Amino acid sequence: MKPILKVNNLHVYYGGSHVLQGASLELEKGTTTIVGRNGMGKTTFVSTIMGLVPAAKGTVEFCGEDITNLPSYKIARKGIGYVPQGRRIFSSLTVDEQLNFVARNNPDGSSEWNSERVYEFFPRLKERYKQKGTSLSGGEQQMLAIGRALVTNPKLLIMDEPSEGLAPVIIDQLIEFCHKLKKTEMSLLLVEQNLIFAKSVSENANVMLTGTFAYKDTYERLLNTPELLYKYLGVGI
Ligand SMILES: Nc1ncnc2c1ncn2[C@@H]1O[C@H](COP(=O)(O)OP(=O)(O)O)[C@@H](O)[C@H]1O
Ligand SMILES: [Mg+2]
Repeated sequence: MKPILKVNNLHVYYGGSHVLQGASLELEKGTTTIVGRNGMGKTTFVSTIMGLVPAAKGTVEFCGEDITNLPSYKIARKGIGYVPQGRRIFSSLTVDEQLNFVARNNPDGSSEWNSERVYEFFPRLKERYKQKGTSLSGGEQQMLAIGRALVTNPKLLIMDEPSEGLAPVIIDQLIEFCHKLKKTEMSLLLVEQNLIFAKSVSENANVMLTGTFAYKDTYERLLNTPELLYKYLGVGI
């Protein structure tokens, strides 16, 4: 099967700091997860895919098309939805306004996702539909950020550490959401520090270590091998 997203040998610098050092990753349709310690380049990797940070070298292909360094709005229109790390909510608009403000069909015309469907997935948002962004809890804001990406009907949804700073009960709802998403046509690229979350949605880990993917194998092996856990995630010993 052709990969939905193919990132090849990506290099990114912030000034003199060489942050991505040849990161390559191919995503098949379905769910893919990226894990790794803080500061390893995960956010930079997904920001570069989205055209928010320039790639100095390397390519990003989406559905066979080269999208490297295109303006971010063009990348979004080609069918990639993005939920950035940290939540960004238009505070002056209500939940319902925010969802309807950004809604659009997929480039191929499909419109599976609308505000009603988002409310089915996140009933909590439905209860809050008239409230402004600022009055929502952290978990509700994250759900709204995800909902805003969904209503653009992307082929691929990228979420960067959605569980960060959220209560365990909300994280469980996000995990349930990812499981529901697996039953749809939409693919998911999930960046997570929460290994339990990441492992529950995918068998395979892609571990980022200083700007490259140093481990691409199962969570099973990673979690059962103390040396690997220590080397790649700084856990234990
Ligand atoms: N805008 C920026 N300017 C300069 N350095 C940055 C910027 N964003 C991130 N960095 C640095 O790049 C490295 C990778 O960061 P990041 O991609 O956010 O990692 P992660 O998401 O894995 O925690 C870190 O050392 C971080 O301090
Ligand atoms: Mg990050």
